[in-house]
Parts: sequence; structure tokens; C-alpha cells
Amino acid sequence: MSEPESRKRCLSGVKSTGVPHLGNYLGMMRPAIELQEQHETYYFVADYHALTTEHDGEAMERQTYDITSYFLAFGLDPERSVFFRQSDVPQVTELSWLLSCVTSMGLLERAHAYKAAKDRGEEGAISHGLFAYPVLMAADILLYQANLVPVGKDQIQHVEMTRDIAGRFNYLFGETFVIPEALVRDEVKVILGIDGQKMSKSYGNTIEALLPPKQLKQRIMQIVTDSTPLEEPKDPERCNVFALYRLFASVEEQAEMAERYRAGNYGYGHAKLALFEKVNAHMGPYREHYQQIRGDLDYLEDVLRAGATKARQVAGPVLELARSRCGYKRRPVL
Ligand code: ADP
Ligand code: TRP
Repeated sequence: MSEPESRKRCLSGVKSTGVPHLGNYLGMMRPAIELQEQHETYYFVADYHALTTEHDGEAMERQTYDITSYFLAFGLDPERSVFFRQSDVPQVTELSWLLSCVTSMGLLERAHAYKAAKDRGEEGAISHGLFAYPVLMAADILLYQANLVPVGKDQIQHVEMTRDIAGRFNYLFGETFVIPEALVRDEVKVILGIDGQKMSKSYGNTIEALLPPKQLKQRIMQIVTDSTPLEEPKDPERCNVFALYRLFASVEEQAEMAERYRAGNYGYGHAKLALFEKVNAHMGPYREHYQQIRGDLDYLEDVLRAGATKARQVAGPVLELARSRCGYKRRPVL
């Protein structure tokens, strides 16, 4: 999809579970941060969504600070982007209920995550929160009247569901919500993990974005390649090492490596080392920045609180509009 030209409102969230990997960084965090140059950007730590799997309160709090620190380390500028913690804007849960009442079970039963749980025979055990996950996500997006939602490919279905839910609400109660669109960059829509499947925490195939150099090198060396002998020519377009390399290297460097692949006498081990050098050089400054920020809880709290104040200024009137469309007026005594 091409980049929008006029200034738009972009919004996205990341669940506060686990450590961001190269798939999260390249597929969502980096593109989202780049948008702050030209657009109005709202990003948040989806800690209410994290409750579907995280049932340890201390871990919840810790991981929220972790994700916030990663975003800031990667270049999110809290002066230009509104960055907040989802649970600091409780209006989202109220909107989620209003939306729940116009969302059919049939729509939610089509969600990939629910279908996968069903296929594993776990549908009776999953929480209602997990089943209703897409409704809360719709509330996240609609509460800010966002135009664009920068995400990786796996989240497109959720944005489509948001469009359906918003359309249904608008149809039933009159024009209320902006219909959002997913913004997915073709070149990073699916980053592959070390085993060649989509990189994902659930597959144990990730390369964590800010691994220390030694572990980063070990992990990159584990990327699975085919068994073409060292001396034979290789096809860069079919190699996962090259696919990652091109996302960190300049056009000239990419052309140079592609040439080496095609010429032969260039092994995957060489390419992996070159990839390691690139990722390590790219991430080095972020690693340091992360350590600094993560140690400064007062700063993190300040950023999150200031973000929540700005977010609530937008969320409040939108929730009021949705409530009044449904026939609920705030009474002066309240
Ligand atoms: P995971 O699959 O590891 O649990 P999340 O679901 O937490 O990742 O994804 C957070 C964000 O990162 C989402 O916007 C998602 O689309 C994006 N993302 C995750 N994995 C990838 C990937 N392999 N390639 C591109 N984007 C990804
Ligand atoms: N479901 C998203 C994920 O797993 C996180 C998320 C929650 C989100 N609410 C959102 C993303 C709103 C975009 C917009 O990555």
C-alpha cells in the first residue's frame, strides 16, 4: 500500500507480553514510528489485551514499562506522538460494551485466533475476553477516530472486523465513527523467523530485537538455509538471510550481496555474518538507549501519564457521542 499524502490520524497498539522481536520491530514498530514525521500518531501499550494471557499483576506492570522503553528507544517521540497505556483510558471498556451489542457471534467466530483455539479443541477453555478481543481492539481504534492502523499482515483481519463493527454501528445509530484502514507495508508484512515460518513468539523462532551481540550472533547463525554447497551459485530471492539483510542494508549493499550469492563461493555462513554485523550496528545505539530509559521509572511514568491525558481529551467526546447515539445522556448530577 502506498503512503498517504495528506495528514492522517494513525493509531496502533502492541500487547505488553514478551520481548519485541525483529518481526515486531520491522513489521510494526519502525513503520509506526516513521509515521510520526508526517502524521498525527497515537500509539499505546495494549495492557488490557495482555490480560487475556497474563495473569500476574507484577509482570503486567513490568512488561508495560518494557514495551514503553522499547518504543522510546526505537525513536518514538512523546512530543510528536501521543503514547499511552490502554488501561489509563478506561473509556475504551465502555465503548467496547456498546460495540459488543452490535457485533455478532458469527463475526467473532471467524477470527483466526479463535478458530485456531477451536481447532486445538480449546474453545470451551478460552476466556470470554479472548473471544471478545477483536471488539476491544475495535474500541481502541474507533475511540480515537483513527484513519490508519499500521500493523503487520496478521492484524489485517482485526482491522477488517473493526470496519464491519463501525459500519454496523453507523448504520444502526447514524454516522458516528470514522471507518479505518489497515496500513501494511508490503516489504515487511511478514518477517520470517529462523525456521522460515512467520516470526512469532508462539513459534519460538524469533530473533529478539535488542539481544546482546553474542546472543544475537548465535541466533542469526541458527537461521535455517538450504544445503547448496559453498562453491555453488545461490538464489538470494529464496534465502531468508538475504530477506532480512535487505531490510537493514543500503541498496548498494543489497546489490553487492545478491551478486555474491549468484557468483558462488559465498556460503550462507558468510551471509549470516554480514547480517549479524548489520543488525548489530543498527541496534547498538537502541540497546544503550533502552537500558537508560528502562532504568528511569519516573520518566516512563511521566511519558505515560502525559500521553493518557492527551488521549482522554480525544476519547471522552467520542465516547459521549457514541453514548448519546445509543440514547444515553450524561445526567448533570453525575
Ligand atoms: P507475535 O506473533 O510474536 O505474538 P504480536 O501479535 O505481538 O506478535 O504482534 C505485534 C505487532 O507486530 C503486530 O502489529 C503484528 O502484525 C506485528 N508482527 C508480529 N510478527 C510479525 C512478523 N513476523 N512480520 C511482520 N509483522 C509482525
Ligand atoms: N492485537 C494487536 C496485536 O496483537 C494489538 C492491538 C490491540 C492493536 N489494540 C490495537 C493494534 C489497536 C492496532 C490497533 O498486535
